[in-house]
Amino acid sequence: MTLRTKFVFIAGIFLALLCARAPIANLQQETTTENVQQTQDDADIGLDLILNHRFLPRDFHQSTLEQVWKDWPADLKAKAEATDDAGRRKMIFDRYGFTPRQDDPKKAVQFVVDKDGWWAMNCFACHGGKVAGKQIAGVPNSHIALQTLYADMRKTKARLGIKMNEMDLGSIVVPMGTSNGTSNAVVFGIALMAFRDKDLNLTRGKLRPFIIHHDMDAPAWWNVKKRPRLYIDGFVQKNHRALVPFVMDRRNSGKTMRDWEDKFKKVFAYINSLQPPKYPFAIDAKLAAAGKIVFNKNCSSCHGTYGEKAKYPSRVVALDRVGTDPIRMKALTEQDRKVYHESWFAHYGKDKTVIKPEGYVAPPLDGIWASAPYFHNGSVPTLWHLLNPKQRPKIWKRTPDGYDKKNVGIEVEVFEKLPKSVKSRPDRRRMYFQTNRRGKSAQGHPFADKLSEQQKRQLLEYLKTL
Ligand code: HEC
Ligand code: HEC
Repeated sequence: MTLRTKFVFIAGIFLALLCARAPIANLQQETTTENVQQTQDDADIGLDLILNHRFLPRDFHQSTLEQVWKDWPADLKAKAEATDDAGRRKMIFDRYGFTPRQDDPKKAVQFVVDKDGWWAMNCFACHGGKVAGKQIAGVPNSHIALQTLYADMRKTKARLGIKMNEMDLGSIVVPMGTSNGTSNAVVFGIALMAFRDKDLNLTRGKLRPFIIHHDMDAPAWWNVKKRPRLYIDGFVQKNHRALVPFVMDRRNSGKTMRDWEDKFKKVFAYINSLQPPKYPFAIDAKLAAAGKIVFNKNCSSCHGTYGEKAKYPSRVVALDRVGTDPIRMKALTEQDRKVYHESWFAHYGKDKTVIKPEGYVAPPLDGIWASAPYFHNGSVPTLWHLLNPKQRPKIWKRTPDGYDKKNVGIEVEVFEKLPKSVKSRPDRRRMYFQTNRRGKSAQGHPFADKLSEQQKRQLLEYLKTL
């Protein structure tokens, strides 16, 4: 198989508007290429498109998904066999990081399901999921297990004599992700763009020989409205066209994608309408007030201020200063950024694309309690670990859906070494985050090092309020 016959990306489902969505203001000043006026109606249409419009080709049929458990490793298969249909569905959803739709729990929020029962991935595969058992719109899906899903699908399709599609085969060559909750999304973009011209029309193309695979944790969507530029290095100017790379499947022609422009304006309106979720547990107001002072002194120069008169500076911090994992910066080359800049995505060079970013952008911290794990590679499970670099775990594995209220983030088990028993089981191995692997380091961000233990506790309490 050539690299050309490649995988897919996304398409359209989501939950019944769990977030209260306020009217959208001030979008005009933020969207500089085109002054788009967006309304709540547009946002509602955008949500419907994500949930129900197929931007990406069909992945598998409902009937295939329902029997995927028959090809699971023996221990899991025995468990699935012993339960009923509802129990098996829960096991299937849990294994792959799906959340049930509220109006039809047989369908996942993360996939469009058409009337014939075909499933196709949508944006919520990476941008929608649950935290502490509750669904949250626009939260990074920290449970998604795409590589395990497609590896299992290959087995089931082979057993049933069903033809494999590009996603099934492509994920053999370009891994979808080596740890659950993260994905190799930026590399898909590079690989898929290698076979399109600047109008997005398909070409014979050629993939450059060295591609640095690396997994990333998707950012929270409710912060997009605050950000003038997108992605961790802020290389892309924000507007609706910047969302279209996520549907660059080979089976979508250039014209098809360009014709979706109006639909992506609505998807963009939906993303801009999202509000950060509120911390659902108790907060010590006094401690948090003290934390605000610590924050404004030590953190706000990069991350901005919150509450009334909030300001967000969108500050780029040089790589050697922030010190977090450098691979993402190297993986996207100057050439890749130029190709983007000159294409339809960036209005043929009219948008301001940064060809040589200096480092990573300090992201807005609204709703930060909900978007664990932290950093662009998802390497740090809690805010306490983020504030205490020496205590960051080398290898961690999350509990199924536990929330760590003390340390603020996902509840994890910590390991010094990868347990031997998982080495021969890739599906299990992907449940462990190994910070010693390439692109997965949990280093850097020393900005709280000088603070006392008490100040860090105050800060942690304040971060819950954002
Ligand atoms: C396979 C996982 C995956 C899917 C599916 C996906 N994304 Fe993303 N998305 C990511 C990752 C990872 C990033 C971060 C990339 C970076 O910073 O370099 C991202 C970043 C973004 C951003 C920028 C956010 C910011 O604050 O910088 C937007 C907007 C976005 N995605 C929209 C979409 C839309 C719209 C769809 C569906 C059409 C989609 N994504 C589908 C993984 C995904
Ligand atoms: C010099 C600028 C700078 C300062 C000061 C700074 N940060 Fe950051 N921070 C960054 C950058 C850049 C990132 C993104 C790093 C990455 O993802 O690789 C970041 C990431 C984070 C994240 C993770 C965000 C996410 O979505 O994963 C949190 C939380 C955070 N910082 C909190 C703080 C706190 C609390 C302070 C004050 C003690 C602070 N930062 C001080 C630049 C800064």
